[in-house]
Amino acid sequence: MDHTSIKKIIIAIDGHSSCGKSTMAKELARQLGYVYVDTGAMYRAVTLYAMRGDMIAQKEVKENALRKDVEDGKIQVSFKFNPETGRPDTYLNGERVEDEIRQMAVSSHVSVIAALPFVRTMLTAQQKAMGEDKGIVMDGRDIGTAVFPNAELKIFVTASAKVRAQRRYDELMKKACTEEERQAINYDEILDNVKQRDYIDSHRETAPLRQADDALVLDNSNMTIPEQNAWLLEKAKARMTE
Ligand code: DC
Repeated sequence: MDHTSIKKIIIAIDGHSSCGKSTMAKELARQLGYVYVDTGAMYRAVTLYAMRGDMIAQKEVKENALRKDVEDGKIQVSFKFNPETGRPDTYLNGERVEDEIRQMAVSSHVSVIAALPFVRTMLTAQQKAMGEDKGIVMDGRDIGTAVFPNAELKIFVTASAKVRAQRRYDELMKKACTEEERQAINYDEILDNVKQRDYIDSHRETAPLRQADDALVLDNSNMTIPEQNAWLLEKAKARMTE
């Protein structure tokens, strides 16, 4: 590649839950030397904050309490590079919450929190600021439509709900340390959660999950991780040298 003609771009990766977006996005960022931002982690961190503050009962959110804390700047989400994993960890008000935000309890409330317009306004503004210098790979649901509608490369990733539930199941099993933790992981519950999140994410009023008109679609149901990574790297390189 002629390095004089390479430009720094913004790469937006959107798609359904658990379809491997972040795995692909992280690897691409590593290969290009770009910053990687997992916006789902930001919505998850806000959800954890609301859960800890007793602001969620069943599926009801105490919106006024959460709105007040958002407006008062009490919820700071940030990322710090972890040299051990080579990836960024998520921090909530200075505390590392990377593992806690991936638990089922957070997964089952996050769509409701992510549908709140004041939460989206706060996080979208932070995400736009992160992309000011370009050279960024950001994954989420509304990156190519709402956060960076002018991104040079937009990808929309999808896979069947069953394939996605199996992947999340495998991932949780791999992380479980005890027999008790493994017993608590239930495939049907995960599949329900995947379907429920698809529905809420695509039907909310503010910035619903939808494919941008100019996005390239990748259905990775039958692709291996190296195949997806190679596909994505090729698309990125093509766009960077156009
Ligand atoms: O990618 P994930 O599963 O970690 O995302 C968690 C939730 O956050 C998901 O249900 C939808 C929501 N989300 C969103 O609404 N907008 C984004 N840009 C990223 C995630």
